[in-house]
Amino acid sequence: MGLLLLLHVLLVAAAATAPAADAWGKEGHYMVCKIAESFLTKEASTAVKELLPGWAGGELAETCSWADTQRFRYRWSSPLHFADTPGDCEFDYARDCHNTKGEKNMCVVGAINNYTAALKDSSSPFDPTESLMFLAHFVGDVHQPLHCGHTDDLGGNTIVVHWYRRKTNLHHVWDVNVIETAMKDFYGNDQSTMIQAIQQNITVGN
Ligand SMILES: *[C@@H]1O[C@H](CO)[C@@H](O)[C@H](O)[C@H]1NC(C)=O
Ligand SMILES: *[C@@H]1O[C@H](CO)[C@@H](O)[C@H](O)[C@H]1NC(C)=O
Ligand SMILES: [Zn+2]
Repeated sequence: MGLLLLLHVLLVAAAATAPAADAWGKEGHYMVCKIAESFLTKEASTAVKELLPGWAGGELAETCSWADTQRFRYRWSSPLHFADTPGDCEFDYARDCHNTKGEKNMCVVGAINNYTAALKDSSSPFDPTESLMFLAHFVGDVHQPLHCGHTDDLGGNTIVVHWYRRKTNLHHVWDVNVIETAMKDFYGNDQSTMIQAIQQNITVGN
């Protein structure tokens, strides 16, 4: 699971991205995966490339927002983007990892397990390309603090705040505004400059 590890490392370093109710916006997911790709071993990179759809142009990062575009097509996938807890900060898998119908494992933690297992099992009935795209997305999501928030405020979606002069909600600030503002104020609105800056700060061994 080199992939998971790298995604994890970069996410922790990146900490800032996109659209409300989605989790990291497009930009955040792209950056997370772009940085992760650079940590893949040759072997992992080859395996990933073999699974990528043609439209990805050989880049995992291009597919990392795909899961957000499938929420309507795959209705069941909506609760897989987060794992909220009722009021306290201690996530209890047995109690908290379910969808609104009470079906177990239907949260981002269950989904990461699900797609990790599917990718490891060559006899899995699930489409491996979709498993990879879901996994790369959900590992990003789970690092957005408000994707592991509280159920009563829908992970900050109902908390109205102002980001500078714009009215928005706390979830959206984390998903999108923090990243956008940082990119604009510190990196001349250039995504690759921001990616490089984050990459330079990642140290080996955490
Ligand atoms: C596991 O993946 C399959 C195929 O995408 C999906 O139907 C199922 O809902 C997933 N379950 C979880 C817990 O992610
Ligand atoms: C990188 O680390 C330096 C020194 O701690 C810090 O000032 C800078 O903001 C960091 N940059 C990023 C993108 O994390
Ligand atoms: Zn998401």
